Amino acid sequence: MPELIWDAKYQDGKKAGPVRIELPFQTVETVNESVQDRQRSLELFSSGSETEWRNRLIWGDKKYVLPSLLAEFSGQVNLIYIDPPFDTGADFSFTATVPDHPDAADNEGATFTKEPSILEQKAYRDTWGVSKEDRERGVTHLDRYLKWFYETVALLRELLAEDGSLYVHLDWRMVHYAKAVLDEVFGTDRYENEIIWQRSLPHGNIDYKFGASHDTLLRYSKSDRFIWNPQYVPHREKYLQDFYKYVDPNGRRYRLISSINPNPNRPNLTYDWHGVKRVWKFSKERMQRMHDEGLLVYSKHGIPSYKGYLDEMRGVPMQDIWMDPAPVMGSSREWVEYPTQKPEALIDRIIKASSNEGHLVLDCFVGSGTAAVVAEKLNRRWIACDLGRFAIHTARKRLLEIAEVRPFVIQNLGKYERQAWQAAEFPNPEDQRAREAAYRAFILDLYHATAISGRTWLHGTKSGRFVHVGAVDAPVTLADVKAVAAEAWKAAGSAKGASEKSAVDILGWEFNFELNETARDVTAQARVDVVFRKIPREVLEKKAVEQGDIRFFELAALVVEAKQKKREATLELKDFVIPPDDVPEEVRTAIKHWSQWIDYWAVDWDYKGDTFHNQWQSYRTRKEPGIETKTSHVYDDAGRYTVVAKVIDILGNDTTKTLVIEVR
Ligand SMILES: C[S@@+](CC[C@H](N)C(=O)[O-])C[C@H]1O[C@@H](n2cnc3c(N)ncnc32)[C@H](O)[C@@H]1O
Repeated sequence: MPELIWDAKYQDGKKAGPVRIELPFQTVETVNESVQDRQRSLELFSSGSETEWRNRLIWGDKKYVLPSLLAEFSGQVNLIYIDPPFDTGADFSFTATVPDHPDAADNEGATFTKEPSILEQKAYRDTWGVSKEDRERGVTHLDRYLKWFYETVALLRELLAEDGSLYVHLDWRMVHYAKAVLDEVFGTDRYENEIIWQRSLPHGNIDYKFGASHDTLLRYSKSDRFIWNPQYVPHREKYLQDFYKYVDPNGRRYRLISSINPNPNRPNLTYDWHGVKRVWKFSKERMQRMHDEGLLVYSKHGIPSYKGYLDEMRGVPMQDIWMDPAPVMGSSREWVEYPTQKPEALIDRIIKASSNEGHLVLDCFVGSGTAAVVAEKLNRRWIACDLGRFAIHTARKRLLEIAEVRPFVIQNLGKYERQAWQAAEFPNPEDQRAREAAYRAFILDLYHATAISGRTWLHGTKSGRFVHVGAVDAPVTLADVKAVAAEAWKAAGSAKGASEKSAVDILGWEFNFELNETARDVTAQARVDVVFRKIPREVLEKKAVEQGDIRFFELAALVVEAKQKKREATLELKDFVIPPDDVPEEVRTAIKHWSQWIDYWAVDWDYKGDTFHNQWQSYRTRKEPGIETKTSHVYDDAGRYTVVAKVIDILGNDTTKTLVIEVR
């Protein structure tokens, strides 16, 4: 078979395969699970028994997510649909909307385009980027894309069940290369369809070529035992008018179909019927039954035709040219302002054709969540992944819009991805302490801070402030903050570069829920000025680090008031502040009231220290752009409850706040 060769396809004479690090998933949120189900899951989990299935929305790069799915799902996925990135600039940037606020004097909603984050740009560079040296060797974007694509589909094939199918959604620019790669991975005999979907209405611009208005979907199967449910589309109106022109006395519309058999060579169907001898389509007994039931209509020459009722027809068998569904546009009901969003009806057809209820559907580039939403509506199980923070947020909101959506979890690879990174990045130091020191020095360097020694909790200084670097595999806790504050207070003025006043920047990958206000109170009491900053995921990416484009954003501050009367607790959002350096200027000026920052918030009324359990939420949609800022809950039993409020702002970042409520 002819073979497509791309740069670095072979290493030492062997085909280079995808990364195969298997990392455990972390569940960061459970959505729509009842209290009873949650309790049952906790019990099953602690007894080591298998927990019930939950659909999964995973935030992460497919490079790590796909190999991590293999342990559990190799050979288990019945259907995979992917709509991989092409022009990733458009895939990652998103339009965020500053919602109106009725109390604001200038009540003008504004929209702005949020450019891709560094991590997202990095994925773009990985997929398409070619270094200068490689370019000089003749390597092109296409080489890089094909390598990336090959690695993706090789893992997808392993995940597919024997009866499984893969649909790859592409356009005219890449489809022919992708076809060659897919033939190589799946075998040419497993190539089932090339589907042409008219993606857009005709364009006017045809000065130098025909308008490109279709996408192509390639369909492959894992074996010849693939699931296949033929699909039909309704007949065209003109056809109905021309053929189904008769109506029964009982109102049923029908056409007349000849009873004469097109095959003249059927002796047992050749007989005399009411004086006419022909080869008929049916046996004499059947003809008699049809006659008795009034299903035959005779011509003036006595030749019977039979009635074909419209309501018994399934429609036209679906072919491989799809003129529908219409693309999703600004005016579409389902549009969620995601630039590459595909219509639900398109994926509905695919899921119905190649899977059955209860089957498992996977999309590792889920974007706005279309495949997960349709799989959910069609009662399939699903796993959906995307690298984009905003994609995950958009998908979550879309899923919540489905009436009676089944519980699902939001997962990432969290600390395990970071541990894998630490092990790969700092493999040599002799012992754990030395490894941690090397890691801290690396982070301090990225933060442009100077390392200091001789202290337990303070690791560096920058612009007159101390710096603490949180561990790679654990969140910063309140106990850490207290220890940092105590040491900073004692050390103020004694360290080179630190000012008289104790001030510390605490850098962390994650922060424990209770941190926000509580930690601020603690540090204020200790008379230490503390700023919490997030170590961005981009740190894990060599190229982003090399380019020095790493920013450590300050945590947003959320003020929530809790009130309680007998068994009823009420939470009210009172303020929300996003640190200035995180937000484009045009957004800041469009915001007149703090609540306009908030796109979504959710509450766990009984946080048990496991994962955030979303028991109530309020969020903005195009149809319902408002948001509630107050909610209440009635507890069944008295007790002391930990309550967590989680806010997602219009930029897709989340901020949490923990409170304790005593119910008497
Ligand atoms: C063309 S869009 C998918 C749109 C989707 N079909 C829909 O209907 O909304 C491609 C998606 O791939 C995601 N993506 C790009 N590179 C990725 C990677 N390495 N891992 C996971 N997702 C990635 C982008 O964030 C983007 O949402």
